[in-house]
Amino acid sequence: MKYKLLGRSGLKVSELCLGTMGFGTEAGWGADKDTSFAIMDAFAGAGGNFLDTANVYKLGTSEKIIGEFIHPRDRDYFVIATKYSLKDNTTNPNASGNNRKNMMRSVEQSLRRLQTDFIDVLYLHIWDDLTPIDEVLRGIDDLIRQGKVNYAAISDTPAWIVSKGNTLAELMGWSQFITLQVEYSLLQRTPERDLIPMAKHYNMTVTPWAPLAGGALTGKYLRGEQGRIKPESNRRDDNSTRITREVMAIADKLGVEPSHIALQWTRQQGFECIPIVGATAVKQLEQNLKTIDLLIPGDDIEKLNEVSAIDLGFPGKFFKEEGVRQNNFGGFYHQIIPRNQ
Ligand SMILES: NC(=O)c1ccc[n+]([C@@H]2O[C@H](COP(=O)([O-])OP(=O)(O)OC[C@H]3O[C@@H](n4cnc5c(N)ncnc54)[C@H](OP(=O)(O)O)[C@@H]3O)[C@@H](O)[C@H]2O)c1
Repeated sequence: MKYKLLGRSGLKVSELCLGTMGFGTEAGWGADKDTSFAIMDAFAGAGGNFLDTANVYKLGTSEKIIGEFIHPRDRDYFVIATKYSLKDNTTNPNASGNNRKNMMRSVEQSLRRLQTDFIDVLYLHIWDDLTPIDEVLRGIDDLIRQGKVNYAAISDTPAWIVSKGNTLAELMGWSQFITLQVEYSLLQRTPERDLIPMAKHYNMTVTPWAPLAGGALTGKYLRGEQGRIKPESNRRDDNSTRITREVMAIADKLGVEPSHIALQWTRQQGFECIPIVGATAVKQLEQNLKTIDLLIPGDDIEKLNEVSAIDLGFPGKFFKEEGVRQNNFGGFYHQIIPRNQ
């Protein structure tokens, strides 16, 4: 395993992040405590140090399992990312949302469940469209100054809000969001419209969630195997099936697993990316870890890009029109080398 710097920070995290949303058997799926321990053992044994959880995963069980695993081991080895915002109880209207009161309450409870006195990376989980972004940044910055959190991060939020937040944080001397967590995979490329260009601009690392589309891109459902994605899910509709079949064909040609192709494709898209790999069995994780040895040839990347292409919409599509490029660059478009290339 190699290590990457997380966003504009000096924090070194493994090139794959372990997703732990499936730690716990609540809601009828997931790994029990022993299996979760074995998954974390295998991940750490391979050099993995970056764990992703949330207050809400499996009603707190995911954090509890991580806490029990890490407490007797070396806390400092692991980089624990957790999230606040989503309800972990329904006792009052401020037990959910992005507001400061919920942030402070949620973080105290996460610290208890994780059996630690600091969180490495705290994400806002999902934008509530109510709380001012300066309230969020100031809150996380206060937690950082108190030593309860090391870095700020954000998930599932419109690009313009993250962008406003980071600009404001820079001006105010607050900690900026260093990581952007969004759904991103061969079946979900719409973050390419605004979120990913924004992350590149702010040197944020993108941590795609569901990079395997919840398992659909492993091809398991087309092979008749079982899993948690229901047949009626759009991850298993005709278009998703067409894309998954291309992933399987390329995997077959290269002599690797479809999961390697799906994960590695996210890492070869020209931006800083650390996919969050979910696993509910040790075998799945062990298989997925082999992704790091793969480099997908350029022509296969092209095929994958083509089969999964999305409409960029306005203005992304407009900027690519030849007439617009002619007007915009006076015929020199193809001779200009963009910054950082
Ligand atoms: N910020 C957010 O809003 C958000 C939302 C969702 C997830 N997340 C984070 O992202 C992580 C990953 O998301 P995810 O679990 O939805 O997506 P994923 O990584 O795309 O899918 C993981 C699932 O795929 C199946 N799988 C994995 N490897 C496999 C293999 N080699 N062969 C066959 N099946 C395999 C397993 O499903 P089965 O259990 O069905 O076998 C596993 O639970 C989560 O753990 C969580 O940390 C964040």
